[in-house]
Amino acid sequence: MLEMRKVTRRFGGNVAVKNVELDIPNGQMVGVIGRSGAGKSTLLRMINRLIDPSEGVIKFSGVEVSALRGAKLRAWQRDCAMIFQQFNLVPRLDVLTNVLLGRLNHRSTALNLMGIFSDAERASAIAALERLGIAQAALQRAGTLSGGQQQRVAIARALMQQPKVILADEPIASLDPMNAKIVMDSLADINRREGITVVTNLHTLDTARNYCERVVGMAAGEVVFDGPAEDLTTEAVRMIYGAVSDGSDISEEITSTSIDTRRPKVKASTASLEPALAGF
Ligand SMILES: Nc1ncnc2c1ncn2[C@@H]1O[C@H](COP(=O)(O)OP(=O)(O)OP(=O)(O)O)[C@@H](O)[C@H]1O
Ligand SMILES: [Mg+2]
Repeated sequence: MLEMRKVTRRFGGNVAVKNVELDIPNGQMVGVIGRSGAGKSTLLRMINRLIDPSEGVIKFSGVEVSALRGAKLRAWQRDCAMIFQQFNLVPRLDVLTNVLLGRLNHRSTALNLMGIFSDAERASAIAALERLGIAQAALQRAGTLSGGQQQRVAIARALMQQPKVILADEPIASLDPMNAKIVMDSLADINRREGITVVTNLHTLDTARNYCERVVGMAAGEVVFDGPAEDLTTEAVRMIYGAVSDGSDISEEITSTSIDTRRPKVKASTASLEPALAGF
């Protein structure tokens, strides 16, 4: 169980996430939706401890992850893999090495610096790539792949961490509909077959409806909806996205499955792989 109690994050005077209370049982697939700026990314980043809450407590299996330091914090970050909209692969390295980077937190710094991976690690990296249907690109430089392929590599890398939770921050927002489906199907498959909890920020309602048993709607940092996708009535959707001033219905942009190509927001990369790459 992942538990959040009165989790709040401030940036200066701005409250990005406010008093969030959530209990996410192991093995659930949760979609987090809300307008731009609602606090979705901030929430995921606090769970993974890329940023710290200003107030409140986050627990996993009874352990207060919001208080972890040092090796225990790194162990939590290994248990809780992140997938980003912009994939965060290392473009100049080949696909296989990128996937092997998912093992870094399992190994000693010395081995990491030497860039040595065991045959067993290589075999499981290939297996992860096969599962994502992308093993044929194992020796290609990651930067030469399409966005959809890169996101599949990022998921394979996450699997190599053998995580208990996968946090995906708009994993399909930069992808065309076909690749978006492949990526969401992969996340759903991992959730079902391995029982890994998946919490994913999504910017289209119908993706959340199609893939997530539970939907959390955020508005201005607060959770304003939490329930099964079937309960997402028009009224609930209005509460999440706000009323449309001219009285027309919620816009297509929000509800449509097709990926909005006007919105390839480039965000600051938060995965700090560079120090670990010194040996490559
Ligand atoms: N590092 C930061 N420094 C200052 N303010 C921040 C920072 N990160 C987020 N914010 C602010 O916190 C609020 C929530 O941002 P967040 O990125 O979590 O929203 P979001 O729901 O993920 O939006 P989007 O759909 O655009 O990704 C926004 O007002 C944002 O400007
Ligand atoms: Mg975001």
